[in-house]
Amino acid sequence: MQDKKDHLKKLTDLAKLGGGENRISKQHAKGKLTARERIHLLLDDGSFDEIGILVTHRTKDFGMEDQIFYGDGVVTGHGTIDSRPVYIFAQDFTVFGGSLSETHAEKICKIMDLAMKTGLPLIGLNDSGGARIQEGVRSLGGYADIFYRNVQASGVIPQISAIMGPCAGGAVYSPAMTDFTIMVEDSSYMFVTGPNVVKTVTNEEVTSEELGGASAHSTKSGVTHLTASNDLDCLNQIKTLLSYLPQNCEEKPAALPYTLGDEIREELESIIPDTANKPYDIKSVIEGIVDTESFFEIHKDYAENIVVGYARLAGKSIGIIANQPMSLAGCLDVNSSKKAARFTRTCDCFNVPLLVLVDVPGFLPGTDQEWNAIITNGAKLLFALSEATVPRISVITRKAYGGAYDVMNSKHIGADLNFAWPSAEIAVMGAKGASEIIFRKEIASAADPAAKLAEKEAEYARLFANPYSAAERGFVDEVIAPKDTRRKLIRGFALLENKAVSLPKKKHGNIPL
Ligand code: HXC
Repeated sequence: MQDKKDHLKKLTDLAKLGGGENRISKQHAKGKLTARERIHLLLDDGSFDEIGILVTHRTKDFGMEDQIFYGDGVVTGHGTIDSRPVYIFAQDFTVFGGSLSETHAEKICKIMDLAMKTGLPLIGLNDSGGARIQEGVRSLGGYADIFYRNVQASGVIPQISAIMGPCAGGAVYSPAMTDFTIMVEDSSYMFVTGPNVVKTVTNEEVTSEELGGASAHSTKSGVTHLTASNDLDCLNQIKTLLSYLPQNCEEKPAALPYTLGDEIREELESIIPDTANKPYDIKSVIEGIVDTESFFEIHKDYAENIVVGYARLAGKSIGIIANQPMSLAGCLDVNSSKKAARFTRTCDCFNVPLLVLVDVPGFLPGTDQEWNAIITNGAKLLFALSEATVPRISVITRKAYGGAYDVMNSKHIGADLNFAWPSAEIAVMGAKGASEIIFRKEIASAADPAAKLAEKEAEYARLFANPYSAAERGFVDEVIAPKDTRRKLIRGFALLENKAVSLPKKKHGNIPL
């Protein structure tokens, strides 16, 4: 029996060495951890149970039969994060560059199936040279098997993809179909075709980092939701992100214990500037409302005119969408609409209530916006919010103008509670623009047109640049003092805790993609 035990130990020790000491040193020299080190840091101590450690590839071509590595370039299994069970796979770049073979794909699919059957989150740590070139179409089939499962799992269990090395070709599409992507700065990249192909086809000279590094995808494309300064930071952010989410779509996110007593926040009274055109940082409003240091921003550097992220309110997870007056005056445009629509749907999938903070002067005008389909993209946000059934509360801090008033979680599209601060201006448009249109003739024929415009502007502002016409009609439930916002929201969300909505029977809606 001892022989047999020794044999097993020999095999598992070999498996744990991946591609061998030399390749591990190369991985470390690039500032990257190995697959097993990453799993060890992410999961609770001693909680990891590996599945498929002795799997090997089945390829006989190109001398592959002599190159057998147990595990075949991916470590798969389950463990716990903050005592919550999760399934995980981590590609091992030291074995064939973490490339995806038929068996490598089978291992990932096996844990995806288990995650689905058991309703547990799936975390993928990607570090791979793409399809295993020696396997041809078999590896392509393996990718498609994963893509298919990503889609079946979407909206059922949270799926988080960390990009911790190369991720090229079709390999990028699995992360793209998961709920969150997080890229490590300087050591990871994602692209459909690399710099060499780009050069051949378009004659553009571009580096991997410029084309698909963390910076490009966090600021320009929005492909990544989060970026991390190194592997450890990436793993820590995954833990934080997961803490705001439930295990699956049937559950609510776990609440942290919380002792009330800090509901009144005086600092909120002095944030809105005296002049309506002066910007202020909506993040200071968010921080004034939520539990201290609980705000976790998503898509921080992309479409900065809207802020989205998770936070806690009296220990409970909420999602926040907020116009940012510091960027493009908080206008809605193509990218901010897409960003907020996606966030809305992610929150709605996983029972995270939504708080919407409104200070929006309207949609951004211009040919660039129209030709890039602001109509279809703005409609995404309108559609996503209209169909979201989680508890939804709005607070209008200042401007709520035009169509953007309707879109930003108005009462009319199903918000449950709508508050406004006394500084709110809820109207078809700003006083100046409105006066120029409706009093055009009167202004033109006045002895002093500028004075007449100012007079009409003041009149329009007095009538409409306030929250009271909306409150009179019940479009706003209550005009509240800023300092009271946190208390109102804690009570409001508690009241809505058991909200139940039945949607019309259908296969699925047809969001304007
Ligand atoms: C097999 C691979 C591999 C691959 C890397 N390796 N990529 N083996 N299939 N796709 C092996 C290398 O031979 C090497 O083996 C080891 O992994 C490390 O690779 P290096 O090149 O030494 O590392 P590095 O210099 O860091 O470069 C990493 C890399 C490069 C940028 C990823 O290896 C690379 O360009 N690989 C090919 C990428 C690619 O074209 N993939 C196919 C994409 S198409 P040894 O034995 O020397 O350690 C695709 C289609 C999917 O994925 C479609 C799905 C629908």
